[in-house]
Amino acid sequence: KKGGFRFYMEKEIYEQFDILKETILGRNTEDGIKFDEVDKSFFNGINNIIISACGTSYHAGLVGKYLIERNAKIRVDVEVASELRYRNPLLTKDTLFIVISQSGETADTLETLKMAKEAGLKTLALCNVDNSSIVRVADKTILLRAGIEKGVASTKAFATQVMTLWMLSNYLGDINEYEAINSAIEATKVDTALHEKIKRLSKRYLHGHGFFFIGRDIFFPLALEGALKLKEISYIHAEGYPAGEMKHGPIALADPELFVVALLSKNILYEKTKSNIEELVARDATVLTISSEFIEMTDDFVKIKNSNHPMIEFFEMMVITQLLALEVAVRMGNDVDMPRNLAKSVTVE
Ligand code: F6R
Repeated sequence: KKGGFRFYMEKEIYEQFDILKETILGRNTEDGIKFDEVDKSFFNGINNIIISACGTSYHAGLVGKYLIERNAKIRVDVEVASELRYRNPLLTKDTLFIVISQSGETADTLETLKMAKEAGLKTLALCNVDNSSIVRVADKTILLRAGIEKGVASTKAFATQVMTLWMLSNYLGDINEYEAINSAIEATKVDTALHEKIKRLSKRYLHGHGFFFIGRDIFFPLALEGALKLKEISYIHAEGYPAGEMKHGPIALADPELFVVALLSKNILYEKTKSNIEELVARDATVLTISSEFIEMTDDFVKIKNSNHPMIEFFEMMVITQLLALEVAVRMGNDVDMPRNLAKSVTVE
């Protein structure tokens, strides 16, 4: 069932290329984005958006904020559902309420959806499970089409969430990134030589006092997600941080036992992120840089393909951070598919 892979998670990482093709099927067309599930008129009168989700789905939502604000010029707030639920939020009827959920059963996310519906907001679910509780409550649903996700640590569902939000940003902003979307999917194909390299590298990253994943713009939520993957299955402490924020405190932790995974985009704030990396190197942190631009100064370097669209870089870096988490966890001797203390779907508060 694992098709020759050691873990479901590994299989699901490798599946992302095929899965994403499903996600965009009939939606990403040369004439722009089409969604059979929602009519454009559904979005009439919407002045802003709230996205509510938990965990990995929340991180996808954060990527969605950057994309929707940039491409569709609609203000987006992203909220952790367990917080939103209890703070009597200000909900106005010109707000579209989007929930993101792989399972469709996450209790906190579901409750915020009910709350928004009661307040008279239009609601849209981005969900992987048809007929789930969330799908039944939401006015409209765009299905993620990730297939069944068995690994407790979400990988392919995250990929489909980000892809769907990207398509939605095109749809709402009436822009067409047809080619870039196809190329981004191409970028999720796992190169076996690269996987071997990450396997080898992983042994240098086992015995430190923790990890920071850093990035800017859309690579900041990817840093959050990379850190979450690593802590879920390796049990090593990891944080995602905006690269430019390190100097406001966390850089105090820098020494050779502090591991930093730097997501260095060629296309967004390259020089600024590079100088953040330099600051960490100067303070002796052990840095692994992921970029298309070779930089000599860091201890390790994983090269991605040269591309001129940040989302193509995003999807390639996503796969690398997933593989890194996987290989560190395997070296620690952990059961990647059954991480301690975690369940696949959190239907309790
Ligand atoms: C992390 C992970 C969790 C879920 C979160 C929300 O790998 O799987 O953080 O993302 O519990 O679950 P869904 O998306 O089912 O609402």
